[in-house]
Amino acid sequence: MIYLDNAATTLTKPLCVKQAVFDAMDRLGNSSRGMHGPALEAARDIYGAREKAAAFFGVQGADRIVFTSNATEALNIAIEGAVKPGMHVITTEAEHNSVLRPLYRKAQKGVKLTIAKADKKGRISLEDIEKAVNPDTAWVFCTHASNVTGNLLPLAQIGSMCREKGIHLAADISQTGGCIPINMEKMGIELLCFTGHKGLLGPQGTGGLCVSPNLTLPPFKVGGSGIRSFEKMHPSVMPEALEAGTANGHGIAGLSAAFDFLKETKVENIQKHESRLMGIFYEQVKKISGVTVYGDFETKDRAAVVSLNIRDYDSKEMGDVLWQEYGIAVRAGIHCAPLIHRALGTEQQGTVRFSFSWFNTEEEALQAAWAVKKLAF
Ligand code: ALA
Repeated sequence: MIYLDNAATTLTKPLCVKQAVFDAMDRLGNSSRGMHGPALEAARDIYGAREKAAAFFGVQGADRIVFTSNATEALNIAIEGAVKPGMHVITTEAEHNSVLRPLYRKAQKGVKLTIAKADKKGRISLEDIEKAVNPDTAWVFCTHASNVTGNLLPLAQIGSMCREKGIHLAADISQTGGCIPINMEKMGIELLCFTGHKGLLGPQGTGGLCVSPNLTLPPFKVGGSGIRSFEKMHPSVMPEALEAGTANGHGIAGLSAAFDFLKETKVENIQKHESRLMGIFYEQVKKISGVTVYGDFETKDRAAVVSLNIRDYDSKEMGDVLWQEYGIAVRAGIHCAPLIHRALGTEQQGTVRFSFSWFNTEEEALQAAWAVKKLAF
């Protein structure tokens, strides 16, 4: 098998991640729910993972890291808590439904929403976001990279523009965390939503929300937190304020090991490797007659994703054939990102997406390109 669906989830995980989950299942009690050894060990491990996440994303304070089950949950906590009726919010056509749907729900409740348009290559410009700003604009919610085209949004520039105008910025880094260096403070991001199972190379069921020290969000879920049990209201101290119920200690132990792996391997090296593989694949497929590649490849500054179509072939059928006949795993269709497909003109056809990880090889990129050539012939 050649696994090139890393934008959906990375299949190959570092050995230390698997070992950490295995070991945690023998070792961890319920964090903050007791004073015995296993409970304390869970609390210490989870706190350690918060510290690593804070250092990794440039966040001030481990208590500003909230663990969630995925980026979608982090985005729901962020949008539900930060966006109030009467506010104007800007988002973009590059977003995943995990940003769009919570915002559409807010729009039904009196939030004014502007969606910055993508051009034919799926690019979103800083100017278009800036043009959408009005005196009621309170938030910009945007992804760091399109999960369909791999185009990056100019997040740091959006961050400075937001700072200048006194607007808050929330970023969805599902496609770039662990693949491209990110520093929340330096990039002017106040809410950072991440998933653990893609580029961060951790287990599924992990993710999180980094909350700037300048912001307070109300609880999203309420329930047991292990502290202040007689109070009727959920605690307002961070990070408990935004977490409730037993933590995913086993998954977080794996994510914690993944942060160690990323620190040692260095995100810059991962970015270089993935970009190289993407480049090798792109250079081969772009010259195949009948192949259309989507997105902006004029810049090397992009996520390691190549979305394409062969003539008018149905993208999902192509995905099936790649798997059945060539053993190549890709994701085809709309990728839960409807607006970018509309902008690219692939609303009906969808696209076939190839996405690369640290664990892929040059040989795999070349074989995948060869399979596309065979299919297009
Ligand atoms: N959002 C993930 C993807 O792009 C699942 O495939």
